[in-house]
Amino acid sequence: MASLLLKNGRVVTADSDSVCDVLVEGETIVAIGRNLPVQADQTIDATGKIIVPGGIDPHVHLDMPFMGTFSSDTHETGTRAALHGGTTTVIDFVLQKQGHSLREALTEWQGRATGTAVGDYSFHMAVTDFNPGTKEEIQDMIAEGITSFKTFMAYKGALMIDDAQMVGLMQEVKKHGGLVTAHATNGDMIDTLIAQHRAAGKLTPLYHYLSQPEVTEAEASGRFADIANYTGVNAYIVHLTCEGALNQVRRATERNQRVFVETCIQYLVLDASLYEDEVNGAKVVMSPPLREKKDQATLWAGINQGLVQVVGTDHCPFMWEQKMMGKDDFSKIPNGHPAIEHRMELLFSEGVATGKISLQKYVEVTSTNAAKIFGMFPRKGTISIGADADLVLIDPAKKHTISAATHHMNVDYSAYEGWELTGKIDTVILRGQVAVQGGETKVGRGYGQFIKRGKTAF
Ligand code: URP
Ligand code: ZN
Ligand code: ZN
Ligand code: ZN
Repeated sequence: MASLLLKNGRVVTADSDSVCDVLVEGETIVAIGRNLPVQADQTIDATGKIIVPGGIDPHVHLDMPFMGTFSSDTHETGTRAALHGGTTTVIDFVLQKQGHSLREALTEWQGRATGTAVGDYSFHMAVTDFNPGTKEEIQDMIAEGITSFKTFMAYKGALMIDDAQMVGLMQEVKKHGGLVTAHATNGDMIDTLIAQHRAAGKLTPLYHYLSQPEVTEAEASGRFADIANYTGVNAYIVHLTCEGALNQVRRATERNQRVFVETCIQYLVLDASLYEDEVNGAKVVMSPPLREKKDQATLWAGINQGLVQVVGTDHCPFMWEQKMMGKDDFSKIPNGHPAIEHRMELLFSEGVATGKISLQKYVEVTSTNAAKIFGMFPRKGTISIGADADLVLIDPAKKHTISAATHHMNVDYSAYEGWELTGKIDTVILRGQVAVQGGETKVGRGYGQFIKRGKTAF
């Protein structure tokens, strides 16, 4: 078995921080300590570098059929880009087609990801049609390691389920020990506002934002938490953006309910003023939309308060030509923005380097908490003996600039074009293999494995 020794790095986990060596044999970490008296087949000098667990992005949409097109990163290009940004595992969404089975959808997604992914991946199952047939399939999915079930409270006619289906799904998932997640926005209200804006000839990207005011998210977040509380299921809100929605979660904690919360990097660092650009606003048309500065402050505080456990991306890239499907009507712009490659570096630069969050909080929200919530801990999400050797070396002071000309995502623009960041991903190791070094990919198509997940252990 090949061995790899990382010498003298600052090894940071959610509960430890010390300068030491990490020894890997095959795919696994076998020893951690100061000046380990060993020789290895390959040694990397990590002096001056921070070593964190491989990033886990639990919210990505690869090669996904959506709004009349497909997201532009495949499982190959998306997971490769993720590796370049220090994310070694992603959880992608399988979408049930309404009127069809969960199994059919899973088979379709496996067909796209198996043998093509470069980094490790798992799946959430998005239940878009909960009925007696779907109900029977829940436990089969859990047995296959797909333990989280996504619901959409918006996108009526395509993905949205109603409250009757929500309660039924939650009861069934609770019975088998899984987790229910939600895109928590009020779909009916949003559709009404979209229709009103279109009827009034208000068609620019700004009206995408104005069709999804904070109340649409706060209302649905509260409703989701309430139904989850009634059913007793483990609940998780994806891509939470705003103060009103987080206050609903805060309210739930007052009755001793725990609702897990994910925000995404863009909601921490970008704001709604970008929608005023009638052309480039399309680049940040996503749902929910970007919010105000006060919401960014709420989210940063929520991370430090432990109310927000995860920072993902909701990576859902579209080429500019695809975005231009909506050049005359905001409601036809495919929703989503590319970030899979930049989450770890943006959060390091804007969060750790500025002092908003600690390095240990950084590790929690970029890997450890997701591993625990989604049933991959301690195989993933930490640096400990017996864990997968998924390790990221960060050069903490190195400056670099984001550009579509140099990123690895299959998309021809960047929402962060020209941003200068502090702290650069230097080397990425996935299951014991150097996957990225010196800006080069060292593992190929098909190296990524499907990660079978267990139950929430948080
Ligand atoms: O705009 C977004 N978020 N696109 C992807 C689908 C979703 O709602 O997560
Ligand atoms: Zn079918
Ligand atoms: Zn969503
Ligand atoms: Zn999403």
